[in-house]
Amino acid sequence: MEAVPSAPQPHRPVLYQETIEYLAPKSLGRYLDCTAGAGGHSFGILEASSPHGQLIAIDLDPTAIQLTTENLSPFGERAIIVHDSYLNAARILQQKGWDKVDGIVLDLGVSSMQLDQIERGFSFRTEAPLDMRFDPTQGQTAADLVNNLGEKELADLIWRYGDERFSRRIARRIVQKRPILTTTQLAEAVRSAIGGAHSKIDPATRTFQAIRIAVNDELRTIEKAIPSLIELLNPEGRLAIISFHSLEDRLVKQAFRKESSDCICPPEQPVCNCGHVASIRVLTPRPISPSELEIEENPRARSAKLRVAEKN
Ligand SMILES: C[S@@+](CC[C@H](N)C(=O)[O-])C[C@H]1O[C@@H](n2cnc3c(N)ncnc32)[C@H](O)[C@@H]1O
Repeated sequence: MEAVPSAPQPHRPVLYQETIEYLAPKSLGRYLDCTAGAGGHSFGILEASSPHGQLIAIDLDPTAIQLTTENLSPFGERAIIVHDSYLNAARILQQKGWDKVDGIVLDLGVSSMQLDQIERGFSFRTEAPLDMRFDPTQGQTAADLVNNLGEKELADLIWRYGDERFSRRIARRIVQKRPILTTTQLAEAVRSAIGGAHSKIDPATRTFQAIRIAVNDELRTIEKAIPSLIELLNPEGRLAIISFHSLEDRLVKQAFRKESSDCICPPEQPVCNCGHVASIRVLTPRPISPSELEIEENPRARSAKLRVAEKN
């Protein structure tokens, strides 16, 4: 007899209903949640694929793994939880004896849970060590980057990953104020570099986003992972990706465009010789945004965008 969920569902994640509807989970289906977080999307997939659907949930964050394990416990062996990067999804599936899956969800970026865990150093609102790693057990911290990069490298990073027009001024001030060891020290350095009120959002927002993206190598990971995740889908299997800012969404859009095209030759080339074959069909010509109601209930959802593709 299959375990029937008896625990309350964890807090509903962003674009929950839309994601589950697009994935249309079925019993006997196999699914992959690349960014488990608190296990909200995983819960929905397992619930909708009852009684036999199975799911592998991956996350880099040990705290997320602990929470997902608790939240998915009502599903017993139908849920397999793995502490790793989704970049290693192919190996993880192989180790679990799985070949392909029928649906994959990727809910990018930082979770509310991580933002609210002060000691993780993701938020500029409270004093904490400057860390920002999704996996605090390995890799360079934000403090390592901020204190060791050259001024030009720092400015380029803040420009590229933060879309920050004052990147040079900010980098100069950071270098002057080193060592910078806490979130508030970094936020104050940024604010003092920009001076005055240039917009409604906190001046530190874009720099924090940039440093976080760099610490976790987020954009390169997304770019590398999408083609290999498509490989893992059964025919008609679906890949649903939720992004939170234009840098992520642009990468998803470009990858979907490329993988859904029969020709990727440069436009100036008169005859196609690339031999590329479309592997997916895009189901969302324009990205899906959260409803007014969802934004009202969860203002952090306002910039989320969902794109979905189906394997040919
Ligand atoms: C927005 S949250 C996901 C929330 C989740 N959908 C839920 O229902 O609770 C993003 C999660 O992705 C994780 N993450 C980020 N990069 C990752 C990677 N390369 N591999 C695995 N997990 C990653 C983060 O640690 C974070 O928990």
